[in-house]
Amino acid sequence: MTHSPNKHDPASVAFGTWAVHGGNSIDAGTGAIRTPLVMANSYRLPEDPASMDWSATDQLTYTRNGGVNQQALERKLAAMDGGEASVCFASGVAALHGVFFTLLKSGDHVVVSDVTYEAVWRLFAELLPQRYGIETTFVDVADLDVVRAAIRPNTKLVHVETIANPTTKVADIRAVADVAHRAGAILTVDGTFTPPPLYRPIADGADLVIHSLTKYINGHGDAMGGVVTGRADLVDRIRHDALVDVGGAISPFNAWMITRGSVTLGLRLRQQLASAERIAAFLDADPRIAYVEYPGLPGHPQHELATRQFGGRGYGGMLAFAIDGDPDTQNRFVAQLRVITSAFSLGHDESLIVHVGPDTRGGSEGYPPGFQAYGHLRLSVGLEDTDDLLADLAGALDRTEITGSRNADQSPPSSSRT
Ligand SMILES: Cc1ncc(COP(=O)(O)O)c(C=O)c1O
Repeated sequence: MTHSPNKHDPASVAFGTWAVHGGNSIDAGTGAIRTPLVMANSYRLPEDPASMDWSATDQLTYTRNGGVNQQALERKLAAMDGGEASVCFASGVAALHGVFFTLLKSGDHVVVSDVTYEAVWRLFAELLPQRYGIETTFVDVADLDVVRAAIRPNTKLVHVETIANPTTKVADIRAVADVAHRAGAILTVDGTFTPPPLYRPIADGADLVIHSLTKYINGHGDAMGGVVTGRADLVDRIRHDALVDVGGAISPFNAWMITRGSVTLGLRLRQQLASAERIAAFLDADPRIAYVEYPGLPGHPQHELATRQFGGRGYGGMLAFAIDGDPDTQNRFVAQLRVITSAFSLGHDESLIVHVGPDTRGGSEGYPPGFQAYGHLRLSVGLEDTDDLLADLAGALDRTEITGSRNADQSPPSSSRT
């Protein structure tokens, strides 16, 4: 049969084609070839509004419930991740909260990876248990027996990150999905570090995948957003409970920006993954570096899993490392960088680095010893020329006075060095 691609049908085209055309259509009013930005918070109602459902999300009524640009982005992202439906929020954290708020209630139990983005750790360690009586067990998701043992009769949800922020621990999504589903629980996966086309957790059994759109999917360091993609019945519940009734709606402008940013997602990732592999190898070979955590390094504890799970496409653009020195040494190193910018966030066009000291984050029990001893530098590899990035890191290392090492007499702390 002849291949007959249609840019309006994601099933008929490859990822790159859908990334260009998904969510876009010719504007009926003007003939413009890009979906216009619709900055309206309300839409015209039918003649008898009293007879309609004011929480309806399948028709355009009010921008908190949905709008032209939000719906376009949702259509695009659902197909990108291979899900039945998507719902967008104002930020990644709003999307994550929307999932947990909708699917959990008092008395439920949740199994969560012992390494997660800080705000998720706080939700499950403090806010949800203390305020709403939701019980949490944090587990090492790299040990499936531990995950299995944590399941209880009231376990409703298992939550992991594909590659965990910040230690780069990799979760075996297919295996964890199997454990969750046997227990009748839902698996929710934060895929922020591994956006499509690098990885699609739904194909491996995740019920819902959540992305911070602020990061790779928008990719330009300007707009914020979050998305939940997956089973239509679950997405529908989340849309009604957490979007319409709690209200963390993404603005049309940000949805429009993210739709545009995501056009180049596949191209950007290709460059970022290739650069990250070279940078990780460079740092790993330098004796002034205490440890490097990057799933692409053969010494990473889940290197083989990452190779299999991500299909050889790459290992992400994020790595964590530390200079063999005290916290001031890490700061002096960052101050010497002339290309890489010191800032929070990740997945941008520009490379970003942030120094996180050993004691500045909560919930670090699951972190490898290197993180406990040195803290870490979290590097998000951007789109700059790879040789410029390597030269920037090398130059900063050369210019940094590496004194006061606390670790000369300690054994190497990193899993990637054992
Ligand atoms: C893995 C992960 N999930 C979620 C978030 C939260 O996203 P946002 O900042 O868009 O709320 C972040 C932010 O760094 C993240 O790294």
